[in-house]
Amino acid sequence: MTEAEARTELDRLAAALGRANQAYHAEDAPEIDDATYDALKRRNAAIEARFPDLKLADSPSDQVGAAPAEGFGKIRHAERMLSLGNAFDAADVAEFDARIRRYLDLPSDAPLAYTAEPKIDGLSLSLRYEDGALVHAATRGDGTVGEDVTANARTIDDIPVTLADAPRILEVRGEVYMSHADFAALNERQAESGGKVFANPRNAAAGSLRQLDPEITRARPLRFFAYAWGALSEPLAETQWRALARLEALGFATNGETRCCETVAALLERYEAVGRARAGLGYDIDGVVYKVDDLTFQSRLGMRSTTPRWAVAHKFPAETAWTRLLGIDIQVGRTGALSPVARLEPVTVGGVVVSNATLHNEDYIAGVDNAGQPIRGSDLRAGDRVEIYRAGDVIPKVRDVDPKARPDDAVPYEMPDRCPECDSPAVREPGESVRRCTGGLICPAQRVARLKHFVARGAMDIEGLGDKEVERFHTLGWVKEPADIYTLEARHGSGLKTVANLEGWGETSAGNLFSGIAASRGQELGRVLFGLGIRHLGEVAGRDLARHFGSWEALVQTVDAALPAAEAHRAAEAAVVTERAAAAAEDRRARLADVRTPIWAEVPEAARAAWEELTGIDGIGATLALALCDAMGAEGERRAIDALLSELSPETPAAVAEASPVAGKTVVFTGTLERMTRAEAKARAEALGAKVSGSVSKKTDILIAGPGAGSKATKAAELGVETMDEDAWLALIGAP
Ligand code: IVH
Repeated sequence: MTEAEARTELDRLAAALGRANQAYHAEDAPEIDDATYDALKRRNAAIEARFPDLKLADSPSDQVGAAPAEGFGKIRHAERMLSLGNAFDAADVAEFDARIRRYLDLPSDAPLAYTAEPKIDGLSLSLRYEDGALVHAATRGDGTVGEDVTANARTIDDIPVTLADAPRILEVRGEVYMSHADFAALNERQAESGGKVFANPRNAAAGSLRQLDPEITRARPLRFFAYAWGALSEPLAETQWRALARLEALGFATNGETRCCETVAALLERYEAVGRARAGLGYDIDGVVYKVDDLTFQSRLGMRSTTPRWAVAHKFPAETAWTRLLGIDIQVGRTGALSPVARLEPVTVGGVVVSNATLHNEDYIAGVDNAGQPIRGSDLRAGDRVEIYRAGDVIPKVRDVDPKARPDDAVPYEMPDRCPECDSPAVREPGESVRRCTGGLICPAQRVARLKHFVARGAMDIEGLGDKEVERFHTLGWVKEPADIYTLEARHGSGLKTVANLEGWGETSAGNLFSGIAASRGQELGRVLFGLGIRHLGEVAGRDLARHFGSWEALVQTVDAALPAAEAHRAAEAAVVTERAAAAAEDRRARLADVRTPIWAEVPEAARAAWEELTGIDGIGATLALALCDAMGAEGERRAIDALLSELSPETPAAVAEASPVAGKTVVFTGTLERMTRAEAKARAEALGAKVSGSVSKKTDILIAGPGAGSKATKAAELGVETMDEDAWLALIGAP
């Protein structure tokens, strides 16, 4: 068999096995018998053994059990599955409590109860019951869409298949996990049978749940704790505590270490107690979750972009390990930032082998913080013994260094002043801690990093196109900028140099890639904006801009109009920057206004209005507005953005709350609000599709004025803007 024949045959086998799996698992209608299936798999394995380089990235032989090629079906969660913000020490917990009190306007001595629940280290699962019957089970996925693992969930003993006396619609959420004893026994069996040995119980649980063959899941000892819920046709209870009790009464396992605590001190005591009990629990936990007990408070607090305001995970301290710092490499990021990375002698930290750690910036290596204060006993040098920990249990970092163990010939580290990737000068602006490559889009490292950011989860989330593929296509010269992704099929979908002909690819995987790309053409506008990788433009700002402008065209029009104003703003900033060191922040702002006056006199009215519209959007400051104008104003950048947008038809966010009476309206709050805090007022208005602005202009639709309203009320009166008090507003939005 020649290599070319082998390649064709592997593709054919992958397609045949994929088809067989689809028929068997998804359609419940097997097309081939078990023996034929096994023969195909054996043939696949034999060819792979002869031509290891040709093995497909998603080879059928890597899938434990029934080889899945098509993967799981998708389920859109009726309510998003959130993750949790973290607290690492007592001060973070106190701040969590204080923030909630500020938001709800509760005095610091008013009673406020929380539940304290162990944070189970497994994977979250959402179970949907309709009329008491389990209809589907989905993993978290990206929080909006998860994988359909219904058949597998049905095999887990802790998960009831029917419920008596349950709400008509009930989504129960909780954690699938594996006990220490079951994990050890499973690994032993796996080792004996030559199967996959898992690194930790969490991986074992995930690997066992995500099986296309539910019979494999059934054979794995998975368990489930319920701790939350999604959509409900009627409330479960009035408090978290009683809701947990209700779930238990319905037949779910809830965690017996859960307690109700009335003060921050009690939460911290509970944290210590759970920490002491941790080793004896028999399953992994990685912290304690605190949740506001009162469910009315929970719903008033609502959520930020991905985490609820009413809960926090107080994590146990990360495990650490000592090893040797072999050297320092420089990685060039999306914005050109040069990030030093520690190359380490591999060491196991908390069950994971670590060989790299982030070093942040040159000050950090020198051992000082951004105010020049020492942060540890010494600088870091190649050859040093260093202590590594995994921050938030994911990204490895250097905690400490032992200067006594330093080799005599170790030399202080010097940050390069040229980009190691493109040799452009790397400059550190005054007042900044990072050094940046000035190469922009000529720097290949920046280009690749931007592409990776563009396709990533929070941004375009293109299925089948990850870091590895981006790098490959970039190296081939097939994809240099985001727009190229969308012309890839036209350019390389057929003919000789096709994606399907690349090593590790085939017709099936190429087809999947192209459909993933096609699907992303309609991605939400906010995500597209985030995906552009403009400095300071994060996920939240992307969504805010999308919500404010409603369409790409409207945004571009305003930014284009604002360009002269952006230039003027920059000139004014430059004029005060020399005085910066001396002046306090407040003075500086006043000074900026002074200096700006004569410069602004030159700026056309329309530009000023556009600039004010941009910077008036809640959450969009001058820094972001400038970055946006810079990106759209720079020729190369603009061409790339225009090319991209001509390929897309982004979904606009109007759908959020079309039915609401305030959808699309621009509102401003001023004066004292008595029935809600400012943050709550803003969050609620936005949830109803309104835009909340900080200043009154001709575009303002409604001013909500509380007692003590001043200049904004006057301006609204001058402009003839509709003004109402808080009660009228609440009545308008139909709040109780
Ligand atoms: S509540 C809206 N409670 O931790 C809040 N999560 O880091 C949703 N987790 O995604 C989560 N134990 O997978 C909650 N007692 C507990 C938990 C818990 C473990 C997991 C869950 C979540 C992750 C966030």
